[in-house]
Formats: sequence, structure tokens, C-alpha cells
Amino acid sequence: MKEKFNILIVEDEKVAGKVIRDNLKNQGYNCALFENGEEALFYFRENPVDLILLDYKLPGQSGEEVFVKIKELNPLLPVIFMTAYSSVEKAVRLLKMGAYTYLTKPIEMDELLHNIEQALEKVALLEENRRLQQDLKEKFSFENYVFDSGRMQEVMNVVLRAAASSANILLSGESGTGKEVVANIIHYYSPRRGNKLVKVNLSALPATLIEAELFGAEKGAYTGSVSTRTGKFEAAHKGTIFLDEIGELSPDLQVTLLRTLQEHEIIRLGANTPVRVDIRLITATNKDLQQLVKENRFREDLFFRLNVINIHLPPLRERKEEIKLLIDLFIKKFNRREGKSIVSISKDALNALIKFDYPGNIRELENIIERAVVLARDDVLTVRDLPVFINEKKEEETGFLAQDTSLPLPERLNIIEKSIIYRTLEKHNFNRTKAARELGISESGLRYKIQSLEIKLPR
Ligand SMILES: Nc1ncnc2c1ncn2[C@@H]1O[C@H](COP(=O)(O)OP(=O)(O)OP(=O)(O)O)[C@@H](O)[C@H]1O
Ligand SMILES: [Mg+2]
Repeated sequence: MKEKFNILIVEDEKVAGKVIRDNLKNQGYNCALFENGEEALFYFRENPVDLILLDYKLPGQSGEEVFVKIKELNPLLPVIFMTAYSSVEKAVRLLKMGAYTYLTKPIEMDELLHNIEQALEKVALLEENRRLQQDLKEKFSFENYVFDSGRMQEVMNVVLRAAASSANILLSGESGTGKEVVANIIHYYSPRRGNKLVKVNLSALPATLIEAELFGAEKGAYTGSVSTRTGKFEAAHKGTIFLDEIGELSPDLQVTLLRTLQEHEIIRLGANTPVRVDIRLITATNKDLQQLVKENRFREDLFFRLNVINIHLPPLRERKEEIKLLIDLFIKKFNRREGKSIVSISKDALNALIKFDYPGNIRELENIIERAVVLARDDVLTVRDLPVFINEKKEEETGFLAQDTSLPLPERLNIIEKSIIYRTLEKHNFNRTKAARELGISESGLRYKIQSLEIKLPR
């Protein structure tokens, strides 16, 4: 265990230095001994070092000078000072500068060894922390997201405080507002971050499979179950489980989930004995769960259990001040992916994007920018790189686009046709039957047009 640690000793008194070195070697440490700071620093730059024993009084550069240079190169490295004369002021100063500790000569070997062990343990912890921080940074660094509006700052305040607790959290908000992003942040900023975050989208699974998926099943519990299967709740033990689209849960499973939350245990399909599970539950819905409760489609007692902390993500149209920042963020992201170098977005295009309502919220804006980056012919995104429906509201702009003589006639006609269809749909709240009637075409004809013209409809 100890062999892997390298200790650098800087001590100008030959005998004292050798005694320390030999003692440490006997303990299994790798040691390098130098009599002055210059040589020690030279060695330090070229070789791995886990800890430094530094004499305070050295010929040439003083121990303190050497220390400052070491800290510049590696602020985390533990340095233990050795000094002949101790004074409180000196000790305080060195500790403030970041020395690990400070020992007075003559050095007591037991005390030295004890301090070295402690320091190295602390470094291992620090490194573990740093690795975790790094993981977080890559996965859920706030740099990858925009939470700039006053409303989002408030939301993130609650998110970070909620993360520290184990309380169940219900995330609500329209599609594409960032519910899954927040679920990730809660897990990765919670004490459970070292364990699993297990996600289940309840609307993506056939109702008949959900129970086995969530709670697991014994061999032979249902036709086709040939081996015992552990469910997602067991997989999330000691971690977090994220149930997306919780409004879709059947009445039967609402009962089972309620029981699971009350008893902290699950029973696999076809099993008799319960299994204890320690989980933090995050649920999400883009439905109005309270409304479902009123309509008797969602159990009220379960609703209260899930909704211990409610976090509502406002739609993008209510935090428009974030649009510009989101655009910049997405341009960077898709530049990287596409190997492009878009530098900015034109004023007109930005204005059009700010005016838009985003029924699909951030996801929709992200898709629009992705498409624009892919299509862009220039290093500035312009109105031409945006989907036609963004400009639909402003007739003169559609007209302007259709007047673009660099486009072939069919494309110019498409722009006009798209615009008419989109506006009619919008007028009828995207009811196709009504829109088709006004347009004087069949519903299937309208469906065909929507597809062939790639008209993007809000979800
Ligand atoms: N604050 C944000 N900053 C940058 N990107 C974001 C932010 N919030 C969400 N996104 C991005 O928007 C997209 C949609 O987010 P997410 O999947 O979390 O939404 P959702 O609310 O779960 O949607 P749905 O209800 O449709 O499942 C993702 O690509 C996500 O990375
Ligand atoms: Mg989602």
C-alpha cells in the first residue's frame, strides 16, 4: 500500500535527512532526499511526488520560498514543515499559506509517521472529491445550462436546497422545459450522487410491462418470464429513481407505488417476501396532476406523497430573457458537434426567435438552432436558416423570403404555401379538421402537406 507514495525530503543537515529517509523507507515509502531547495524543485518538476517534508531553514532559497513555488505547481500537495525554532506566529503563517502541518526538531519519528499517514489519507479524499467534481462538471456543470432569469434563479435555489434532502420531489412543467435536466441536477448534487440514478419513462412502456419493470418479477411470474428479474426500484437502491410522466400510472400501480413509499419495500411480481429499498423518488409530469386528482384519475394520497417538494419549471415564453443566452449556448454546442464555426446570429433572426412562443420550450429552441447550424451557409445565422414557421407571424417577412431571387421558384412557392397552412392551423389552435375545412382541402391532404413541406407543429 505504502510503496506507491513518493515522499520528497528537503533537509540540509545530512545526518538528520538520512535518518528520516531511512525510517520512511523502512515503512515502505519511496523517498528522494535533497539538501537544498533548487535541486528539490528541479526534481519535483520532473517526478511524481505525493508529499514533501521541508526544512524551514535552508541554504539558498528559504523553505518558505520553495514552499510557495511548490504550491503554485500543485496546490493540493501536502507539505510538512520541519523547523528548529518554533514560534506561534511562524506556525500560524505557514498554516495560513497552506502547509499541512509543522513539526519541531528534533523530529519524533512516530509523530512524523502519523502525520504523513494522515496527510496522505486527506489527499486521497481530496482527489476523490476532485474526481467527483470533475464528473459533475462534465455532466451537469451549470456552464452547460442557462438559469439566468430571475424565475429560474429562484427555481434553482429550491433545486439545490431540495437536492440536499431526501424528500420526494414532483417536477411539473410543459414539455421541453428542463424537467429531466433538473432531475439529473438534483441527483448529482445530492448525497446520493455516488449511487445510481435510474430513470423510467412511464409513457414509453406498455402498461402490462410497467409493473415488472418497476418492481421486478420472479421466474415464471408471467408468461415468458424465464428468469428472475430485478426491477428499477431495486436497481436504484441507495440512489435516486426518476419516474417520468407519472400521470400515466394506472390506478393499480398507483396503489403499489403508494405502498412502496409507505413501507420502503417492494415485492417482486410472483414473490411473497418483500425487499427493502432505500430510494429518493423524483417524479415528473407535464400534466396538471392536481386536476387529475380532482377528476379521480390520480390518487390524492399518492399525490401528497409525491409532492412533498414541488418544483415548477416555467415555460420558455415566460423567461424570454434567457433566449439569447440559450442561442449562444446551442450555437457553441452544435458548432462543436458539426465542426462549424458560426460566430453569431443576425439581429433579425434573433428578433424573430425572441418573438416566437415556443410551444415545445427549450427543446424546440434547441432543435431550431441545431437545424440552423447544420444548414447555415455563412458564419452568421440569418432568418433564412430558421424554419419558416418562426417567421409566419410576420407576413411581410414571409413575403420577403419568397422574393429571394436566389431561390428556385418551387422553393419560393413552398415558403408561401407553408406560411398559409401554418397560419390557418394556428388560427384553429392546430385543429386539423377545422384548418382543412378553411383551406378547402381534405384532412388527409392537409396531413400530406404538413409532412411533405416539413411544417413543424407544436407538440
Ligand atoms: N436551462 C437549460 N439550459 C440549457 N438547455 C436546457 C435547459 N433546460 C433544458 N435544456 C435542454 O432542453 C431539452 C429538453 O429538456 P428536458 O428533456 O429536461 O425537458 P423535459 O421537461 O423533461 O421535457 P419532456 O416533458 O418533453 O420530457 C434538453 O435537450 C435539455 O438539454
Ligand atoms: Mg422529460
